[in-house]
Amino acid sequence: MIELTDLSQVYHHGDTAHQVLKDIQLTVQQGEIFGIIGASGSGKSTLLRCINLLERPNRGSIAVAGQDLMQLTKLELRVWRQRIGMVFQHFNLMASCSVFDNVALAFRLRKLKEKQFVQHVADLLEQVGMQDYARHYPYQLSGGQCQRVAIARALADNPRILLCDEPTSALDAKTAQQILELLVTICKQKEITIILVSHALEVVKQICNRIAVLDQGMIVEVAESVHFFSKPQSNVGKSLIQAASRDILPLQVQARLHEVYRENDGLLLRVCFHDKVAGQPIIAQAIQRFHILINIHIAKVEYIQHAALGTMLIEVQGTEEKFKPCIAFFKENGVDIKKVGYVTPVME
Ligand SMILES: Nc1ncnc2c1ncn2[C@@H]1O[C@H](COP(=O)(O)OP(=O)(O)OP(=O)(O)O)[C@@H](O)[C@H]1O
Ligand SMILES: [Mg+2]
Repeated sequence: MIELTDLSQVYHHGDTAHQVLKDIQLTVQQGEIFGIIGASGSGKSTLLRCINLLERPNRGSIAVAGQDLMQLTKLELRVWRQRIGMVFQHFNLMASCSVFDNVALAFRLRKLKEKQFVQHVADLLEQVGMQDYARHYPYQLSGGQCQRVAIARALADNPRILLCDEPTSALDAKTAQQILELLVTICKQKEITIILVSHALEVVKQICNRIAVLDQGMIVEVAESVHFFSKPQSNVGKSLIQAASRDILPLQVQARLHEVYRENDGLLLRVCFHDKVAGQPIIAQAIQRFHILINIHIAKVEYIQHAALGTMLIEVQGTEEKFKPCIAFFKENGVDIKKVGYVTPVME
């Protein structure tokens, strides 16, 4: 378990102090994949670097398995750091070292004999699918392959925690997906806790159990992924999801949209079905019960941590007095509703 208490970090630029992290309180459970999201400059990387004391916060405590890292001597900290691996966006491999030597670096620095680690390094390379590239150099590898080597290196000391700062941001979508799958497999096999920083919501949505939203150095929301993506609580969380969401209003609908009801208007709703509700024919039931028509403009179902999350943009067509009971029916059945506005009917 990782427990951050009252963590603060201040940078000084000349006479001015810039508080980058403010009273961070956070608990991450062993074996969890925990995501940290937030706008650029919100302090995500700083927070990650503070967790393994690559950077020393100016206040607060960082407890890993009950031990406050801030209280350790330099020597003790060096030993504790072996429990915390780190993976970066740009891999940070040693260009002049082979793949094997990059992974073996920590052992060489500790002056261990080759025979003490040669099999271990070979096993690590196999785990990340790079066993055939041991004698290659980083410049001979693709980005995805470099990240695999960097992950093997981060795992060299059998860490209990893996800190990943934008591990897939420099990769194309397919390679990013493979790296995410590798991280999930490793996390499960070795029961490693992963803290993953990313500004790509798709990444955290896919693999994180829980998420913290950082805004100007403060944690403004911590939630289970599925709850966060279906119903974000903080304004920053809402705007991050909105910005990433591809289901913007289609232009044809936008042109007909307004706020105040006029006769014969349709009602435009954004509806969100989660988990059990996603499998039920609620739209069909509403049509039957209220004798309305429903025009679906956008519909998608995503799976977050095995829970289904369906979102739709629908236009309810009927008389105004049917709109209220129809909305109430959706809500009674556990569907989240957001009224977008009214739309003028399409002329035949
Ligand atoms: N070593 C440093 N000295 C002074 N200011 C710094 C230092 N590192 C980061 N900062 C400042 O701290 C703030 C947070 O930076 P940080 O790199 O943690 O943000 P981030 O959320 O990781 O952003 P990004 O998504 O762009 O990577 C920024 O305003 C940045 O300018
Ligand atoms: Mg960063």
